[in-house]
Amino acid sequence: MLIMKEVILEKALTYIEPGPVTLVTTADGGKNNVMTISWTTAIDFDGHIAIITGAWNKSFSTILKTGECVVCIPPAFLAETAVGIGMVSGADADKFERFGLTALPAKTVKAPLIGECMACLECKLVEYIESYGFLVLKVTRVVENENISDRRILHAVGDGTFYADGERYDLREKMKTKLPPGL
Ligand SMILES: Cc1cc2nc3c(=O)[nH]c(=O)nc-3n(C[C@H](O)[C@H](O)[C@H](O)COP(=O)(O)O)c2cc1C
Repeated sequence: MLIMKEVILEKALTYIEPGPVTLVTTADGGKNNVMTISWTTAIDFDGHIAIITGAWNKSFSTILKTGECVVCIPPAFLAETAVGIGMVSGADADKFERFGLTALPAKTVKAPLIGECMACLECKLVEYIESYGFLVLKVTRVVENENISDRRILHAVGDGTFYADGERYDLREKMKTKLPPGL
């Protein structure tokens, strides 16, 4: 018998959320900061992505003020570090120092890359939809760190549990007419 059992509404996001956990860096007058963001989405094939955040975070006001940030993808083995970064505000601590992160210079923005991440997306803020804290970003440069051997992306379920990437299915041949050139 196929029975669908109703559960609490809050469960909705746990089915939608599992995109990558990201570490988003900012620089305010030369002072680097980083926050954890798991509410992210790709928007189009022209390099637009979105992150969702709000005024309770220091990074949010810095992004609005400077119009830029870097969205970094930590390997799964940094899960506890990513959670730690998301539990402390840059208003109270230097998180690069506290979590042993290496700030590397970006090229198109002042916010830093994180040397321990497998990839970093340098981004400019193009639109802010205030009612939902929805920040639309244009990616201006992408860098990858091939020295990071753990290529597993971390996914937050939204209830304090996480997945690391497992088996990868290659269905490129089936959807090749929908893939942009170079991907
Ligand atoms: C796993 C995890 C995911 C998080 N995702 C988000 C998010 O998507 N959006 C958000 O605004 N805050 C998110 N947070 C909370 C911020 O990272 C947290 O408030 C952080 O301390 C803000 O740092 P800041 O004040 O230095 O900017 C997350 C925290 C954790 C632990």
